[in-house]
Amino acid sequence: MSARLSHPGTEPGRVEPCRLLEFDEHADPRGSLSVVETGKDIDFEIKRVYYLYGLPVATVRGAHGHRCLRQVVIALHGQFEITVDDGHTRGRYLLDTPRRGLFIGPMTWRNLINFSPGAVGLVLASEIYDESDYYRNYDEFVLAARALR
Ligand code: TYD
Repeated sequence: MSARLSHPGTEPGRVEPCRLLEFDEHADPRGSLSVVETGKDIDFEIKRVYYLYGLPVATVRGAHGHRCLRQVVIALHGQFEITVDDGHTRGRYLLDTPRRGLFIGPMTWRNLINFSPGAVGLVLASEIYDESDYYRNYDEFVLAARALR
């Protein structure tokens, strides 16, 4: 059974909308297939897909927040961790199976860390790339996030 988002309307400025999602696995002797479908598994239209690979194990990816963007991150191969921070609360998630994804709502600072050798990360995003949606500076992000409450 698909895990549906329990928070279809994301509330900016709260780590709480970050959710681990479980995707259906269609497994048979030929192998496995998982599906992420808008309206069923996620509540946004996917406008952009990107993926991370060739990652040094000690690398840190992400290290930014988004004003509006919603994303789901999936470890397609290997594993890594994602730390999330909404300016008030911090969380940490392990992604170690392609059957699971982390939904990250707006106004959440995220770091992707502790990549296993050969790990591949897939990101499904609600908007096309827009640098003006980014907070690249943590102090600026925290000020903005705290001002939301
Ligand atoms: P960056 O934001 O640093 O990656 P991450 O936060 O996931 O570690 O992006 C790396 C480079 O790729 C940077 O030059 C911007 C570019 N980029 C795009 O052109 N389009 C995209 O959709 C993304 C995510 C990045």
